[in-house]
Amino acid sequence: MYNHQLHQRVNSILSQYNLDIAGSDNAFYIRLMTSADTIRELYQEIYSGHTTAAPVFEQLFLNIIKAYSARPATFKNKDEAKVAKDNWFLSNQITGMSLYVDRFCGTLGNLGNKLAYFEKLGVNFLHLMPLFESPPAASDGGYAVSDFRRVDERFGSLADLKRLRRKMDTKQMYLMTDIVLNHASNQHEWALKAKNGDPKYQDYFYMYDDRAIPDQYDQTMPEIFPESSPGNFTYVPECNKWVMTVFHHYQWDLNYSNPAVFLEMLDIVLFYANLGVDLLRIDAPAFIWKQLGTNCQNLPQAHILLRLIKQCVLVAAPGLALLGEAIVAPAEIMKYFGNGRFAAKECDFAYNATQMALQWDMLATGDTRVMLAAQSQLQQKPYGASWITYTRCHDDIGLGYDDEMIRKAGYDPYRHRRFLQDYYTGNFVSSPSAGALFSANPQTGDARISGSLASLCGLEKAIKRNDTGAINTAIQKILLMQAHSFFLGGIPMIFYGDEVGYTNDYSYLTDEAKSYDNRWMHRPVIDWHKNELINSPDTVENIVFSGTQKLIAIRKKIPAVADHNNLAWFKPYNIHVAGYSRAYEGQVFYGVFNFSNEVCYLSWAAFGLNQGNITQLTDHWTGKDYIVSNSDEHLIIEPFGFHLIEALQA
Ligand code: GLC
Ligand code: GLC
Repeated sequence: MYNHQLHQRVNSILSQYNLDIAGSDNAFYIRLMTSADTIRELYQEIYSGHTTAAPVFEQLFLNIIKAYSARPATFKNKDEAKVAKDNWFLSNQITGMSLYVDRFCGTLGNLGNKLAYFEKLGVNFLHLMPLFESPPAASDGGYAVSDFRRVDERFGSLADLKRLRRKMDTKQMYLMTDIVLNHASNQHEWALKAKNGDPKYQDYFYMYDDRAIPDQYDQTMPEIFPESSPGNFTYVPECNKWVMTVFHHYQWDLNYSNPAVFLEMLDIVLFYANLGVDLLRIDAPAFIWKQLGTNCQNLPQAHILLRLIKQCVLVAAPGLALLGEAIVAPAEIMKYFGNGRFAAKECDFAYNATQMALQWDMLATGDTRVMLAAQSQLQQKPYGASWITYTRCHDDIGLGYDDEMIRKAGYDPYRHRRFLQDYYTGNFVSSPSAGALFSANPQTGDARISGSLASLCGLEKAIKRNDTGAINTAIQKILLMQAHSFFLGGIPMIFYGDEVGYTNDYSYLTDEAKSYDNRWMHRPVIDWHKNELINSPDTVENIVFSGTQKLIAIRKKIPAVADHNNLAWFKPYNIHVAGYSRAYEGQVFYGVFNFSNEVCYLSWAAFGLNQGNITQLTDHWTGKDYIVSNSDEHLIIEPFGFHLIEALQA
């Protein structure tokens, strides 16, 4: 809504800057004026009662204007090009890879020399795992940041990052980095000042003199790392206080009820925007608001803060999209896309973690029914927002989908999850998997799963046994899992190493800074001699790499699989086979995936193709064409096989 006072105020701030609001900066001016009142409103919802609310708000506006003024011209031009495309990120031309710079190739400088590798694979979007300074002995893979603006020495420097960005530009590559919004390292300047007794910085965190309030919180807050970091508070001897630490004891939760904290962190968001980041991964947004008596996750205030960030970014850097890394129940995840008048105006992306976990569910059980039971919720995603689709990432696999979905398929939730845990850790007699339980909580029976894509699919054990048949099955499963996730809609994100079938790496056990966290087993150190084998026909590396490469190439050829919100599940009348279609402007794509170890037969009727208007089906995966004529004919799907079919109209 138009707000006259705000208009006057903004104009007077703007007069201090050399902006051409009638000319080249006009779009910015319009964005600022049209969003100003929404920004004010969202800000007031959280901070209106706070003593410093007014001056901090003033500063917030100043910072937005400053950030825009400092934004390099190349990024402003890119903003314009992206905005003109309307949701540039829904495209089927984007394929991502997530990697640790040091474990992948050492430094940011070296990464610049690897761009041809990504190009060969078809990857044009890089998620560089946390790059900013983090104490090596207590880093949580970089998610404990001690300086949000300084690139960690082990990767190089800020200048190296900027150089890499420019190099990526020459290949039209997109960049994603993290902002660790929920917490800072206990070595961060703010934490050090808080330890020293500075009340200003103690108020940046949740600090208490005794256990009274922490005990109350602990009653309702679940534990994230019950084995290595039990409880949600850590004693700080330097100042004789307790500080909230939801994750590890060295990750101090930031106090967003203090507007100064919001101001600082928004400024860092804008700093990353001006480094040319295309998609900013907001780490752990579900946790940013805390309230006694609740589980302190997914609270309404967390959503308001995310909307506020989105509005500020829209004004200063409209080409920057936001990804909310909320790994939460299906009904909760939807809220991160925004709703009501904020539909598709909160986070542009979320991880499709439910679907990811359900793929693993299907692979272990050979049964698609639990997955299908989740779809009515997952399909409520608003148009204009999208998923990161994936099979593995640097984190564990949580089985956080609803009990009700498991019951609908006729299973007992507790026993079903227990089966999955046993299956993937290899405890189950016939299981080919070699994973491990992560953060098992004996009190609740909860446990998540660690392990690489290849090891969970059986490659590690098969290689150990030198069993060619089992090796082939494992490779088939790897490609099945990737194919199923690549075509669902959203940006496919490959986890580095999975494109060549890396199995678990157990060296973390001898490293004190990592041995307490078995997620390191699936975070490989790339051996480039091994990766060279992608060029040697018939090696595992070659087959997995070229299969992945082919999947990416197929996806780029089919406009219908861009995220038009056009995913529809069809009923293959066979619980082993998952099938979806994606129709758009006359093109129809069908993906069918057999999650069982038996051959499955699918009638053409299951595709809903009896209308007679579609006669020919082209399978981009096998290269075969099918003529749909006789409804007695079947599509034969091999064990763990899949088909990527395009329908051609008569
Ligand atoms: C996110 C990260 C995870 C990290 C946690 C705490 O969930 O993906 O790796 O441990 O946040 O920052
Ligand atoms: C985040 C995710 C959770 C994950 C954890 C550590 O809290 O929500 O699923 O297990 O980080 O990896």
